[in-house]
Amino acid sequence: MKIRFETLLPNLTDVPIYLSETYWWAYVHPRAIHLFERQWLVNLILWGNFGSLRDAALDALDLDSPGSTLQVACVYGDLTATLLERAVPGSLLDVMDVLPLQLNNLARKLPTESTVNLIRCDSAAMTFDAGSYDRALLFFLLHEQPEAVRKATLAHTLRVVKPGGRIVIVDYHRPSPFNPLYLPMTGILRTLEPYALDLWRHEITDWFPADTILAEVRKTTSFGGLYQMLVITV
Ligand SMILES: C[S@@+](CC[C@H](N)C(=O)[O-])C[C@H]1O[C@@H](n2cnc3c(N)ncnc32)[C@H](O)[C@@H]1O
Repeated sequence: MKIRFETLLPNLTDVPIYLSETYWWAYVHPRAIHLFERQWLVNLILWGNFGSLRDAALDALDLDSPGSTLQVACVYGDLTATLLERAVPGSLLDVMDVLPLQLNNLARKLPTESTVNLIRCDSAAMTFDAGSYDRALLFFLLHEQPEAVRKATLAHTLRVVKPGGRIVIVDYHRPSPFNPLYLPMTGILRTLEPYALDLWRHEITDWFPADTILAEVRKTTSFGGLYQMLVITV
């Protein structure tokens, strides 16, 4: 068994307040996993786009050469399993999450011989050394975080990826006003995901530290503008 657990947050009660108050039903309550850990359901929540967004993110991560990858937060469905399948021999994968039950759930989903480190850590307070990783992936994390946490997550991600490395961010985006999902998604996000509409009002780069200098930032949108992907070369 090569799945290794590590904790950088030994206190089980160290759960960010926005998770316990806003997202208890999605991630914190033990029954949440029984409900949401279904590929068809995560695909439905993304209006049938889970597979295409997953594959676009993994293509952009440039997994063809070995190196170290940090997945910032667990994701329901087969994102991590697919990442591991696509990684070339000699690659390293660390997946961090602030909730032990989400890391345990991920371990259950992966083949037991997977080479992966599952690390309990807060994305807003990463203690990894600067330049520890060749790549980092944030898949639908930022819209769940209040602004101060989101800024800290981005600052740490930019810090821990080495110069020349790649960061891929996939998340919500303001759709075109002609997108038939514009109004339904406004209502859904306003009701269930109170921080998500920030991503409709701002560019993700607005939350980078002021002194950030990057080699390249490429932004693409899909599904009538409802989703965005940033591919960043540090
Ligand atoms: C990546 S996001 C959402 C992904 C997507 N909606 C899905 O289908 O899973 C969900 C994960 O982020 C984790 N998370 C939220 N805030 C975090 C933080 N500050 N540090 C680390 N993990 C965090 C939650 O525990 C949860 O496992």
